[in-house]
Amino acid sequence: MTSTVDGKTVRVALLGCGTVGSEVARLLTEQADELAARAGAPVELAGIAVRRPDKHPELPQHLLTSDAAALVESDVDVIVELIGGIEPVRTWLLTALRKGKSVVTANKALLAEYSAELSEAADSAGADLYFEASVAGAIPLLRPLRESLAGDRITKVMGIVNGTTNFILSAMDSSGAGYAETLDEASRLGYAEADPTADVDGYDAASKAAILASLAFHSRVTASDVYREGIANVTSSDIAAAKALGRTVKLLSICERVTADDGTESVSARVHPVMIPRSHPLAGVGGAFNAVFVEADAAGELMFYGQGAGGAPTASAVLGDLVAVARNRVLGGRGPRESAHAALPVRPMGQTPTRYHISLDVADKPGVLAQVAQVFAAHEVSIAAVRQRDRLSTASLVIVTHLAPDAALRATVEEIGKMDVVHEVVSVMRVEGED
Ligand code: NDP
Ligand code: HSE
Repeated sequence: MTSTVDGKTVRVALLGCGTVGSEVARLLTEQADELAARAGAPVELAGIAVRRPDKHPELPQHLLTSDAAALVESDVDVIVELIGGIEPVRTWLLTALRKGKSVVTANKALLAEYSAELSEAADSAGADLYFEASVAGAIPLLRPLRESLAGDRITKVMGIVNGTTNFILSAMDSSGAGYAETLDEASRLGYAEADPTADVDGYDAASKAAILASLAFHSRVTASDVYREGIANVTSSDIAAAKALGRTVKLLSICERVTADDGTESVSARVHPVMIPRSHPLAGVGGAFNAVFVEADAAGELMFYGQGAGGAPTASAVLGDLVAVARNRVLGGRGPRESAHAALPVRPMGQTPTRYHISLDVADKPGVLAQVAQVFAAHEVSIAAVRQRDRLSTASLVIVTHLAPDAALRATVEEIGKMDVVHEVVSVMRVEGED
């Protein structure tokens, strides 16, 4: 194992010095004395790898390199990875961990697919792998799941973990505007990236859901296990339908422990837009903020809230991890290992119990409600509430279901959409946060 920790110095290689990395470098320099006191030894920035060193006149030039692979191999104790993406970063981090170097990363895309491989490399070399900043930026969330709640049984983790989509949905809710024009506005204001695909199509939230589900349920869940729908199909009609019922629309990452009738347990992990009551704690989370709601048997309900992105907020989580791994190295121990002992299977979305809100325009004549109700009954979907409002020859029908397998709810909606008496399926959305 490479180690320069002799009670004097922990040497750190910073891979990437963009939005987050530049803030980490700044704080490492500005708070050097305090960080040393907390870690138990000086934490020295020993090298910085960027793609284009000539574009970084603000950084100490003697630390800069474009050769990240060589920096990983050099005489450093900790790698802080803030480049992003899968390769070549995966290879570099595996190399570092196998050599016994600790790794701190904010890379959710990498962790959501390769956490098992990286954890195994860390375990076999006795190194640390910390990734608090990968989900919900500044919010201390992964360490509470991994450590503070290690003695409890978590049943649900549900939250807003993507600021871009929360900004767009909050703006649609307050202005009544459509998705496309609100996305344009978010881009103009700098809240959405030039290519917003990873955010608006739910890939970013799905990676975070995989990380949360793995930690909460001591199982291995990857991004490809997570059911995913983005917000591109959320219409102003959906938002208006939600408002009319005292609800709002949010893109949620929902990770649940599901217990079948025979007592067997599985994990459901999904990302999709949902209607939640305006009284729910997540409903009041506006703009680009993140919030995560956790339910556990003994602890009950917990809520974590704060800034989920941005250079300084994310750097706060990175530095927290850096102090922890530096302290571990100074003291000669290591932090908690990956815990995948429960190995719960992932439940397919079709079998996951969900509730739907369905808003329909139907012909206003006798027997229509009974015909519609018959379709729900045929799919064994129980109706929780029905509201009808008449408008000339049309009636507006709002139906909220009880919990049913998602596949049965989908099949119900598909069949209803084909009925002659149904003029239009105005809005279909899953409902969360109410019993
Ligand atoms: P940026 O795009 O701002 O910065 C990326 C950095 O990586 C740049 O300094 C770039 O160099 C460097 N880089 C790219 N390729 C290479 C390479 N091959 N070798 C060496 N350096 C390279 O990214 P962010 O700071 O926004 O994000 C970093 C990580 O943090 C990502 O995993 C992201 O998902 C995660 N994250 C980001 C958040 C945010 O708010 N931005 C929030 C939470 C997590 P150069 O400067 O020369 O181009
Ligand atoms: N693109 C992400 C967001 C950044 O909008 O929340 C934080 O991971």
